[in-house]
Amino acid sequence: MEHNNYDFGLVGLGVMGRNFILNVADNNFSAFGFDLDEEKVNALKEEGGNLEKVSASTEITTFIDALATPRKIMLLVPAGKIVDAVIENLLPHLEKGDIIIDGGNSFFTDTDRRDAYLAEKGIHFFGSGVSGGAKGARKGPSIMPGGNREAYKEVKPIFEAVSAKFKGEPCVAYLGPKSAGNYVKMVHNGIEYGLMQLTSEIYDLLKKAGGLTNEELHKVFNDWNKGRLQSFLVEITAEIFNQKDDKGDGDLVDKILDKAKQKGTGKWTSQNAMDLGIPVPSIDVAVSMREISALKEERVVADELYGRPTPAPIDKAELIKLAEEALYFAFINTYAQGLHQLADASAEYGYELDMSVIAKIWRAGCIIRAGLLEDISTAYTNDKKLPNLLLAPTFAEKVQATVPSAREVVAYAAKSGIPLPAVSNSLTYFDAYTSSKLPLNLIQAQRDHFGSHTYERNDMEGIFHTEWGA
Ligand code: 6PG
Repeated sequence: MEHNNYDFGLVGLGVMGRNFILNVADNNFSAFGFDLDEEKVNALKEEGGNLEKVSASTEITTFIDALATPRKIMLLVPAGKIVDAVIENLLPHLEKGDIIIDGGNSFFTDTDRRDAYLAEKGIHFFGSGVSGGAKGARKGPSIMPGGNREAYKEVKPIFEAVSAKFKGEPCVAYLGPKSAGNYVKMVHNGIEYGLMQLTSEIYDLLKKAGGLTNEELHKVFNDWNKGRLQSFLVEITAEIFNQKDDKGDGDLVDKILDKAKQKGTGKWTSQNAMDLGIPVPSIDVAVSMREISALKEERVVADELYGRPTPAPIDKAELIKLAEEALYFAFINTYAQGLHQLADASAEYGYELDMSVIAKIWRAGCIIRAGLLEDISTAYTNDKKLPNLLLAPTFAEKVQATVPSAREVVAYAAKSGIPLPAVSNSLTYFDAYTSSKLPLNLIQAQRDHFGSHTYERNDMEGIFHTEWGA
């Protein structure tokens, strides 16, 4: 390979970086990697794949000189200060028109700051979410780029080649200016938290109320994955119930400590939704449940102290049917909340997001890929300005048909002391969003009563205050 003509540069040859660069090479683009860690550079050289198209170095000048201009350099390094440090290292070597792509889960305001800083220097910056884990990076991730529209043309052929394909369509698209890509990826992760929490609640219900064994759970999730719940998360859930313990007897899932970790993207989604004033209760509670799960020692003491009711007997086949319908209902409500947040953020931050495009690039490659996304994409294609998925006639049908089961499941679980907070928040969200009248008139009265905060009336225009009790 000659000097100066590699198509693509990649900084950070950890698992994700290594897989991504090999994916680029598999698609016949030449790629040059850079990492300070010699072992990682060597590890890349030892990988299988189209190695003629790949090279790597620990020397930044070798790396920079190897790349054709405008240079297209993707960073796959941990979010935070490291991204700034890498940018500072690269900057003295770059030329105007070069492109830096941050492929990590960076916080969107960091991306805006970096974008403005680099724009002053004539460098284009892309905050680009990449979803699908290590396998996705190697075989085809869903990619969510945001940045300069013109500069995207330079990156487009490579991203379209390496991305996952849904019926031949690439799961990547230019999403919008500045941090649009990182923002979309953040909300993708918020939805991911919601769907994961929902599947774990349904697992709990089927196990505690229906007494399903792991073998039965494997079969149930496997069957569901062949129907309308078809999705990556349901698919891997089925697989998980089949996994034997590699360190002893029994099934691995039963040996895993019930404390879930998090790196922050779900929490950021919730926090920003609060800032925007958009309700995403199924995502909020998914974050809270990871926090409650972390309180293992306290939970053990409290369990001793309070105990819980014995679940009432229920027919297994009936329970499985109710659970499928409730899960489908809650999945829809969770996507609806995340997409509502995206639509609002788009207006607030000037992203000009196209929701049908976002749903399309989520149909393959990413963690929240699901059969449902095809219908979601169609709903937004039919109505570009759809404020909420729940208002799409095609979704009204699906929700109407499944909400009775969500009610049954939530009521049953509440009586049985089985916590289903994400299913029940999805139901409550639905009931509140579809109520033309809510009791918040009383809150307005209370606010005016104790704080003279004023209120509006439903029978005449204006702002009113009353001397209550006078
Ligand atoms: C993806 C994932 C990925 C991230 C997980 C884990 O889309 O491939 O979202 O970016 O590793 O979200 O996040 P937590 O550690 O917070 O669960």
